[in-house]
Amino acid sequence: MFPNMIARNMKVWMLSALMAVSVSSYAQDKPNAENGKKLYEANNCGSCHALDKKVVGPALRGVHTRRSNEWLVQWVRNNEKFRKETKDPDAIALYNDYGGAAMNIFENLTPANVLDIVEYIKTAPEPKKAAVVVSDANQPKDDSTTLYILLILVGIFSAVLLVLARVKNTLKRVAAEKNPEELAAMDAPKKGFFEKILPGKWGKKNPVVLTLFTVAILGGVGAYYGFQFSITEVGVQKGYAPKQPIAFSHKLHAGDLKLDCKYCHSTVEESKQASIPALNTCMNCHKGVQLTDKYNGEISPEIKKIYAALDYNPEAKPGEEYGNNPRPIRWVRIHNLPDHAYFNHSQHVKVGKQTCQTCHGAIEKMEVVQQHSSLQMGWCIDCHRNAQVDVANNNYYKALHEKAAKDIASNKNKSKYFSADGKVKLTPAMNGGLECSKCHY
Ligand code: HEC
Ligand code: HEC
Ligand code: HEC
Ligand code: HEC
Ligand code: HEC
Ligand code: HEC
Repeated sequence: MFPNMIARNMKVWMLSALMAVSVSSYAQDKPNAENGKKLYEANNCGSCHALDKKVVGPALRGVHTRRSNEWLVQWVRNNEKFRKETKDPDAIALYNDYGGAAMNIFENLTPANVLDIVEYIKTAPEPKKAAVVVSDANQPKDDSTTLYILLILVGIFSAVLLVLARVKNTLKRVAAEKNPEELAAMDAPKKGFFEKILPGKWGKKNPVVLTLFTVAILGGVGAYYGFQFSITEVGVQKGYAPKQPIAFSHKLHAGDLKLDCKYCHSTVEESKQASIPALNTCMNCHKGVQLTDKYNGEISPEIKKIYAALDYNPEAKPGEEYGNNPRPIRWVRIHNLPDHAYFNHSQHVKVGKQTCQTCHGAIEKMEVVQQHSSLQMGWCIDCHRNAQVDVANNNYYKALHEKAAKDIASNKNKSKYFSADGKVKLTPAMNGGLECSKCHY
């Protein structure tokens, strides 16, 4: 399997290398949509723009029909200089329309780069479905409910089978009534249940003993699984997805609008806590994004909740929008370790280079956030035993790196820093990640 995988990967690498070469040579002649898409993403245009809706900046689909290429190149590369030096009336009007919300300067992009982006905008496929409907929190059934339902179904099914077997027997009897020989055969002593299913002399043992034996085995297996289930599942909040006071959707904001997680969870690289954003962060956009088109001219009821919490009146005179009675929104906390355990985000995100999704799952696809991992001690330990930490260019691992290098020099391939497949392996466990005191106060 391994050599196979490597062979397959080699093919993919070679293919992509070839494609990269052909793409870059092609890009010089004709605008290249694929390259444009990459540049659009790499420069985070999507944090302020969407193709089909107004976000911070205008919807970009069809922009090539309202602006010339020359205009677009100047605008994207340095809109400020463009406005001030050429006094282009369209550029000034656009800027004023957006209340002076200035777009960044992208002088890193060459004119050809900008045309690639325009080509991407021109050719990007239309979405199948327009606005995303923010649904109510659908509390998913947890695993144990599913198990109980299955057990009940199995019970009902067996009962139905039993009844059917009886009915069949009675029918057979009624049919045999006319034929005394058949009737006699039916009444002859039957082979016991165990005689039928067990071979030779085993089937002839006392049926009571055999029954007790069977019950004991089944009971043992049941108790074992029951115990496993109780110690691993009880009190674990995996799948917990409470309804939140505002129907905020990660699928929309982090998925469709491609906002960076750190735009809102801004402390995740520096501190223990990832932190939930203040509503002022939402106001960067929702002062303007009110979704009145969707609600027949009214402001979205969910956005009104943000305004109410901040005591903000969108109709008041400039400078007087904010009242004196803001009250916090009480988001329902989803992930929660017990007080005796210590977990630190910056250690994992910044130092350990773990992605949010490894622990939280595909948040950018969730309408309602759901707990993805068990957060139990075994889960932490498993990863600390197996994760390969990236020690290159990471000062934090200097000591570990030196220790491993020394051990490898003196023990050669018997060094404990080699894994079974002969590769160097450096896990959090080797850096003290299994010590009780690291995770417990
Ligand atoms: C920080 C937010 C922000 C980012 C990032 C951003 N833009 Fe903009 N963009 C705006 C705003 C706001 C406007 C509207 C004009 C204004 O207020 O300056 C705008 C206007 C535009 C326009 C003119 C649209 C029209 O209808 O004429 C184009 C084209 C454009 N942006 C392309 C891009 C591209 C390409 C990128 C990425 C390389 C990008 N923008 C990144 C905020 C942004
Ligand atoms: C526009 C702001 C915003 C962005 C962008 C965002 N989040 Fe959130 N996040 C929130 C808000 C508000 C909450 C609290 C409400 C909720 O749970 O939906 C939250 C809650 C969470 C929670 C659950 C917290 C708890 O209570 O345990 C996790 C985990 C999370 N976000 C991860 C992410 C990840 C990963 C990304 C990037 C893929 C991301 N968020 C992007 C605003 C944001
Ligand atoms: C970068 C801009 C941006 C930020 C920041 C942002 N949003 Fe949004 N949000 C949008 C856009 C754009 C839409 C509308 C998408 C559409 O057209 O359906 C939206 C839609 C919504 C909706 C759906 C409203 C409805 O009735 O359909 C809710 C609720 C919402 N946002 C809440 C929040 C909250 C709470 C925060 C802060 C934690 C936040 N948003 C931060 C851009 C943003
Ligand atoms: C190694 C696993 C892991 C990674 C990686 C991780 N988290 Fe967490 N996250 C947790 C755990 C565990 C908790 C619960 C912490 C607690 O209760 O003290 C949590 C809690 C949260 C919360 C709730 C509020 C808080 O600060 O406790 C948010 C929001 C969150 N994470 C966002 C993120 C984002 C965004 C990223 C990526 C930048 C991320 N997490 C990466 C494991 C992880
Ligand atoms: C997906 C993998 C993963 C999971 C899950 C995980 N960790 Fe980690 N952890 C790491 C990595 C990688 C590091 C950084 C390596 C290091 O510092 O040695 C780390 C480091 C740590 C450290 C610092 C250790 C040191 O030596 O400085 C602590 C404490 C820690 N984790 C606690 C936890 C706790 C508590 C949990 C469970 C709630 C957890 N981790 C879950 C991967 C993980
Ligand atoms: C990598 C982090 C980590 C390490 C190392 C670690 N623990 Fe834990 N431990 C946790 C977490 C997280 C919990 C909470 C899990 C939960 O609530 O299910 C926990 C829970 C516990 C509990 C309570 C069990 C319960 O059901 O609430 C005990 C006791 C415990 N740990 C003892 C230890 C001992 C002893 C060691 C050292 C041999 C140790 N732990 C090492 C992370 C760790």
